Amino acid sequence: MIWYGGDYNPEQWPEEVWAEDTRLMQEAGVTMVSLGIFSWAMLEPREGEFEFGWLDRVMDGLHAAGVRVDLATATASPPPWLTHRYPEVLPVTKDGVRLSAGSRQQYCPSSPVYRRLAARLASRIAERYADHPALAMWHINNEYGCHVSHCYCETSADAFRAWLKARYGTVDALNTAWGTAFWSQRYSEFAEVQPPRAMPSFGNPGQLLDFDRFSSDQLIELYRAEAAIARAATPSIPVTTNFMGFFKGADYWAWAQEVDVVSDDSYPDPADPLSPMYAAMTRDLMRSLRHGKPWILMEQAPSAVNWRARNAPKAPGEMAAWSKQAVARGADGILFFQWRQSVAGAEKFHSGMLPHAGTDTRMWREITELGADLADLADVEGSRVDARVAIVFEWDSWRSLEQQAVPTRLSYVDHVFAWYSALFERNVLTDFVKADSDLSGYDTVIVPSLFCATSAALDNLSAYADGGGHLVVTFQTGIVDESMHITSGGYLGSLQAALGVRIEEFAPLAPPDLQKAGVGTPPTVALAGEFAGTGALWSEHVRVSDAAVLSVFASGALEGGAAITRRANAWYVATLPEGTLTGEVLDVVLASAGVATDPAGTVERVQRGRHHFSIDHGTQAVQVEVR
Ligand code: GAL
Ligand code: ZN
Repeated sequence: MIWYGGDYNPEQWPEEVWAEDTRLMQEAGVTMVSLGIFSWAMLEPREGEFEFGWLDRVMDGLHAAGVRVDLATATASPPPWLTHRYPEVLPVTKDGVRLSAGSRQQYCPSSPVYRRLAARLASRIAERYADHPALAMWHINNEYGCHVSHCYCETSADAFRAWLKARYGTVDALNTAWGTAFWSQRYSEFAEVQPPRAMPSFGNPGQLLDFDRFSSDQLIELYRAEAAIARAATPSIPVTTNFMGFFKGADYWAWAQEVDVVSDDSYPDPADPLSPMYAAMTRDLMRSLRHGKPWILMEQAPSAVNWRARNAPKAPGEMAAWSKQAVARGADGILFFQWRQSVAGAEKFHSGMLPHAGTDTRMWREITELGADLADLADVEGSRVDARVAIVFEWDSWRSLEQQAVPTRLSYVDHVFAWYSALFERNVLTDFVKADSDLSGYDTVIVPSLFCATSAALDNLSAYADGGGHLVVTFQTGIVDESMHITSGGYLGSLQAALGVRIEEFAPLAPPDLQKAGVGTPPTVALAGEFAGTGALWSEHVRVSDAAVLSVFASGALEGGAAITRRANAWYVATLPEGTLTGEVLDVVLASAGVATDPAGTVERVQRGRHHFSIDHGTQAVQVEVR
């Protein structure tokens, strides 16, 4: 069975509406709802006083209607009494501003008060509903870090120092790792170390990177505490927390190993023509996080959201297309935010499965149709998706590449997406992998800007190429190690031998935001040779020792210098080939690796288990060959 449903917030409605809810859920084919996510203030209206009666009735009503529950620990939004009584729980920004209550997620992730009160609430809920027959899954908190991923308060500063002590042991080791000899930053004791609050100039790169790592670890620690409570109460009920796709604030590789099932919230903009591709990329990441295990699309909008400058609705059929894309790419559940569209509060203009206008609506017809379609797809559940190509994706490269004191302003995810989209257009299914993971199952591995890499990771990639794997490495890879110290001698570390190149000097091109600002650096560079066209974002002086030069820079100061090289099964790409050129490079790599491509215009094709999905994202009628 494929789970179908959405966030259910019955506390927003008078009780007489609940019976209609369950009746309509049945009509729509709903099999699961996420319940209680923002219920703290209703469940514990005063400190230590719990009111579960209303939730008991909701749980019982859902059970009677055959709807299973993904029950929240309800800790996502501390109630007003909590932040009123314990204002130290409120998070502090980099600039020293203490945030106020009145929206949600108003807590410092390191706050012992928040942790204590959240754990107590989670325990009470876990005890009360452990044996409830509607309980199918635990939903820990909600979108950890969505609004507050980093907190700079004194409590967080203390926790950061403790984290650093555990990581480095001695302050000398920290000094070495952070390179504090520069700019007179040498610490003599841990007590002197602060979080990277607003500063006169660039922060220490090691401090910034470690604070990102620490902040991610704090969120995971919060999750871990509540997950342990849920597991103790119900050892056999799966535990999840909803991820947010490519979310920089938390390292989902680490986190995913601690959930029983990965779940994701996904809000691509219907007004952006690239959305189907971008959505596909997040679905592939979610499937990859637990190495191919099915995952759940925990939230998506039935139509418009309410938080963009302009909130475009989904076109007829688009909701179903994007939902089936998720199923094709490994999802065993399709859920929405939210069941019944609100009439009050901050998200009343966000679409709901049951819209303001009621059931005689396009929305409702599409929702019930999708419920029926997913019921027909029940036997997809549990089946796997087999990818022969992988893209290396690492949070440390993301964090470090996007610091301020770096060679250029590059969006890591945009660069990854440039390569991903060329694969998508060819209907080549792609996994994401860590650089140090076992790559032997893949015929081709793409490495876009793996800026920060341990020598073990670089060794792993070069061993993959040496063993016959087809490897594509692009610019700004192997530049710094895990402490953000330069990989000297031409960068790339052990990949130099595998690729037959080293890098002498960088010559970044204008990133898109500076192009708009009219800054006079060239936005592109001409490329000539086997791959002719233009390159964007980057150029550099590549020194070739042992590789064929497939393409050279054909304009500017680097004219005649290598831009794209190949040594046996290993390619190096020193720019972002523009337009169709990325795909032309990939065609050669994939053909050499024996990976089939299947370009089908606007039609996305994916095979999951024995099911073939063909999903048209275009606006014109197309003919699809059924296999
Ligand atoms: C998510 C969140 C939901 C809802 C939704 C729509 O980020 O988890 O509670 O706010 O977005 O905006
Ligand atoms: Zn804090």
